[in-house]
Amino acid sequence: MSNSSIAQEVSRRRTFAIISHPDAGKTTITEKVLLHGRAIQTAGTVKGRGSNQHAKSDWMEMEKERGISVTTSVMQFPYNDRLVNLLDTPGHEDFSEDTYRTLTAVDSCLMVIDAAKGVEDRTRKLMEVTRLRDTPIVTFMNKLDRDIRDPMELLDEVETELNIMCAPVTWPIGSGKLFKGVYHLHRDETILYQSGQGHTIQEVRIVKGLDNPELDEAVGDDFAAQLREELELVMGASHEFDRELFLAGELTPVFFGTALGNFGVDHMLDGLTEWAPAPLPRQAHEREVPASDEKFSGFVFKIQANMDPKHRDRIAFMRIVSGKYSQGMKMKHVRIGKTVSISDAVTFMAGDRERAEEAFAGDIIGLHNHGTIQIGDTFTQGEDLKFSGIPNFAPELFRRIRLRDPLKQKQLLKGLVQLSEEGAVQVFRPLDNNDLIVGAVGVLQFDVVVARLKSEYNVDALYEAVNVSTARWVYCKDAKKLDEFQRKMSLNLALDGGDNLTYIAPTMVNLNLTRERYPDIEFSKTREH
Ligand code: G4P
Repeated sequence: MSNSSIAQEVSRRRTFAIISHPDAGKTTITEKVLLHGRAIQTAGTVKGRGSNQHAKSDWMEMEKERGISVTTSVMQFPYNDRLVNLLDTPGHEDFSEDTYRTLTAVDSCLMVIDAAKGVEDRTRKLMEVTRLRDTPIVTFMNKLDRDIRDPMELLDEVETELNIMCAPVTWPIGSGKLFKGVYHLHRDETILYQSGQGHTIQEVRIVKGLDNPELDEAVGDDFAAQLREELELVMGASHEFDRELFLAGELTPVFFGTALGNFGVDHMLDGLTEWAPAPLPRQAHEREVPASDEKFSGFVFKIQANMDPKHRDRIAFMRIVSGKYSQGMKMKHVRIGKTVSISDAVTFMAGDRERAEEAFAGDIIGLHNHGTIQIGDTFTQGEDLKFSGIPNFAPELFRRIRLRDPLKQKQLLKGLVQLSEEGAVQVFRPLDNNDLIVGAVGVLQFDVVVARLKSEYNVDALYEAVNVSTARWVYCKDAKKLDEFQRKMSLNLALDGGDNLTYIAPTMVNLNLTRERYPDIEFSKTREH
């Protein structure tokens, strides 16, 4: 394949993830996106609530019992003339550090907001992560078939709470039982909503032009008048779409619709595939690597254990940064300095695992991993590169791990360190005692770790409450000051799985006070691998 055809393949790719608060509609919109991508025939097959669809992704009994998916899948499908990679982000109890790290492997994000509720807590947190790389954000205001909050107020809230300018691309006409459709500001047309068509791609009626009398007839005089009035206000008070600002992560185009009713999802997808960036360059310690580099490179952002319980394999998810992967190629595993032959990477076509014969920058491939791959690892076609920007995130939940059989201390530590290298959990060993504290950002991670310690390391452990509520990695250029800090604060200091010094605070107040007392110490929420 020539360089120009590699460049062509790369330039049509769009790689994104969805950020939202639980129940805002991420699963439903994913289904509708796949429906539009012709990746599924009818909606209702992604999670298959209450059906036996779970079987495909389950890897633990626990997962079946709770009816949730521990796995984060990747779905690839064509849309218009683009090839879209949608990376799923675990959202409910399965929320984990993987959710954060997945956001470091995409080029854009779709933010789904429940328009009856507005900006919610989880969305705030996830937006904070996207800000690390100024990722472009497309916004979908969902559930217009319910009574929603005032749209203008919703935009205001996004602007002030998330610190991003809003540019409405569509504008809703009514909501709830009186939801009539949306006016598309760029196309100057009204797309009319019909309820009860959510499982298919709808035939829609379109009315061209805002002053068209057909509009009054279609939505009623009052709604038409209200729309014209609101639009005047909207045009005056909100921002116009600007691609540069969007690409800089400073402005988000906003779409309104209902994922359940499959209305407006296509407008959003049209916007996203047209405006979202093609695979972006990536910073390595040595240089910036453009996606158009003909030589292959990529980094691992997630390791998934036991996707297939029969094989107990682990899959390392790699984002390809540049060039092309082809089956059987040799790659350099830079950290360990070895060249490996990759014959059986997997790609992810609409949720199914398939053998990849080739893949390009922007795509995700899965490498079978027998313990030699860690999160953040770089693979290349020979060059010694180390990609940055795939950090650990400070945990938000902490537990003390205890053994039922005290003789297994060594295996426990080994298991925890390996699991922390995979990103399943983080482990902290206080400087002043023999506790083992694990940290996570989602509660389910503790259960996963206990289950995996048992099945993979034959260690019977349990976890219990511990008086830690937040952690920060500490750095200081001045060795003397760091030493003093370490001596005075040793009660609150620990080493993580990679032996990095960490401040573990019983409360946020404690953390803030310590910060004030030691202004020369840097307390970081993320740590680069
Ligand atoms: P999540 O993945 O973000 O957690 O949300 P999910 O899609 O599972 O949606 C959460 C609930 O909101 C679901 O209802 C879903 O049907 C509903 N929902 C999603 N989009 C819309 C929408 O546009 N309009 C309305 N009215 N509801 C929407 P549920 O009752 O929890 O689940 P189910 O029993 O309906 O499957």
